[in-house]
Amino acid sequence: MDDINARVRSLYDVAARSYESELGHGIAVGELEHWRADLAFALHERAGLVAADVGAGTGVFSRFLAASGYEVVGIEPSSGMIAQALSQPVAGVVYVQGDAMGIPERDAGWDLIAARQSVCYLEDPLRAFRCWLDLLAPGGRVLIVEGLWSRASWNDEDLVDALPLSCVQTRSALTYLLRCAGFGSVRQRWLSAVNRHHGLGDGDVGSRYVVVAGPRA
Ligand SMILES: C[S@@+](CC[C@H](N)C(=O)[O-])C[C@H]1O[C@@H](n2cnc3c(N)ncnc32)[C@H](O)[C@@H]1O
Repeated sequence: MDDINARVRSLYDVAARSYESELGHGIAVGELEHWRADLAFALHERAGLVAADVGAGTGVFSRFLAASGYEVVGIEPSSGMIAQALSQPVAGVVYVQGDAMGIPERDAGWDLIAARQSVCYLEDPLRAFRCWLDLLAPGGRVLIVEGLWSRASWNDEDLVDALPLSCVQTRSALTYLLRCAGFGSVRQRWLSAVNRHHGLGDGDVGSRYVVVAGPRA
């Protein structure tokens, strides 16, 4: 397990500088409105709530969540990615080095545990989701953005075969795992406006979706 995690970490240490300029990584100014439209149903309406952004990378989604009213802690294993995140400081966002199994506990729990395009790197997503469920505040939710990534989009065959969510061509795998982890309400939607912006239809290879899950009532 350490081998794979170390491999991913060093991959992102190297990729950090150019990460946001690569297709599908950054969120360009003209794309922001589409992310807001597609994720409006998933975000809390009240401002000032606290979010963990797991696999925060260079902070693309942490900054989006802060602009949506959350206080954000970005959790990221790669020091290179954190360095890039810290070079773009925004109010209400801090970063800590750690991974999906190391989200700090909060007495009051987390209102939101978010992960944009990072659960595809988890070697044991079921274990991580069980852990996240325990860390939520009352009324808290998990928000996962993923895509229908192709095998060819990964440059490392070993990673594809070690990571269960690396190139799954159905949204149901994630929903199934969240239910297995004990989540009660699980909703999934395509990011239709974002997909259209990128010239993709919902369900095309490379199209993205969001899954929002909360504890059992
Ligand atoms: C495709 S990037 C996404 C970054 C950011 N979430 C975004 O939306 O731009 C994947 C990120 O997941 C991180 N990551 C990889 N393995 C992880 C793990 N086990 N726990 C948490 N994050 C991980 C990587 O270091 C990388 O920063």
